Amino acid sequence: MSGMDDAPTTVTLRVNRFTPRPERDRGSRGGSPFAKKGGSPFGGGASRNRRPRGKQWTQDYTLSVRPQDTVLDCLLTIKRTIDPTLAFRYSCGHGMCGSDAVSINGTPTLLCTATVAQWARHPNPLSPTDDEGFRHTGDGADNKGDPEASDMQTDGLGLIELAPLPGFPVQRDLISDIDPMLDQIRKLKPYLQADGVLATTSEGKADVFEYLQNPQQLAKYEMLTNCIACGVCEGSCPVFAGGDAFIGPAALIAASRFVNDSRDTATAARLDAIDTQDGVAACQSVRACSRQCPRGIDVGEEMWQIVAKVKER
Ligand code: SF4
Ligand code: FES
Repeated sequence: MSGMDDAPTTVTLRVNRFTPRPERDRGSRGGSPFAKKGGSPFGGGASRNRRPRGKQWTQDYTLSVRPQDTVLDCLLTIKRTIDPTLAFRYSCGHGMCGSDAVSINGTPTLLCTATVAQWARHPNPLSPTDDEGFRHTGDGADNKGDPEASDMQTDGLGLIELAPLPGFPVQRDLISDIDPMLDQIRKLKPYLQADGVLATTSEGKADVFEYLQNPQQLAKYEMLTNCIACGVCEGSCPVFAGGDAFIGPAALIAASRFVNDSRDTATAARLDAIDTQDGVAACQSVRACSRQCPRGIDVGEEMWQIVAKVKER
């Protein structure tokens, strides 16, 4: 890419930062995992769900960028040249591993697929509220107020706000603990349970087990195999954000993938496992989960289909 669209400019990243309180300050005896009576050194139990305590603040970083740079590129530049203490998680850098889901301008998405041009915006200078207490947003020309915001309007591409993925406990800065989601997925046995057909060699000896399927049967679930367990749908779901009330859309997508697989022989048990108060009954069909799936899965529609399958048994 060349020309004006690729010209270097600046952007400001406003990062919600968090540093957990050191273990030894948390009131346990000497910080030893074995010191607390009855406590497990391997975590779990009530302590797992405890909201982490520590220092929270927001920090602005202004850096030189090209509009097509990703937000991950910007964070790597900050980490290497400005602030090595900034913490975030990533691995593949290409939308394949799902490890870098965060909230960008309040929307859960992947750092490595979000470009500066897509997400940078000029914040509205705070306008005064009207007689009924409402603040008017949009492109009103008569906005007055926040001088810092006014500076950003004239300086570069504007502002991108970053925070950890909603609905999950934060570990440090932009890193969330996604183990609660992975535990829910594991509970639903995300692996094929099938009776294979024994194939034989030309001499009649047992060779391999085959799990036969035609292309039409594959098409029923193939899209769902693209899920990378990134948690974007869970971070978007207002019910999942409530904690243990809902196993979450990612776990239901994992269940749906095997329910729709013609080779799987555990359909009844899989539907039983999600026919619970915290399973399909908790889904309110808000469909916020569909908006940002980086793998193009219409998560809300799949929820709808699996709910229908459970009810129609
Ligand atoms: S369904 Fe999409 S948004 Fe949800 S975990 Fe899988 S890949 Fe991520
Ligand atoms: S770093 Fe792997 S999906 Fe973004």
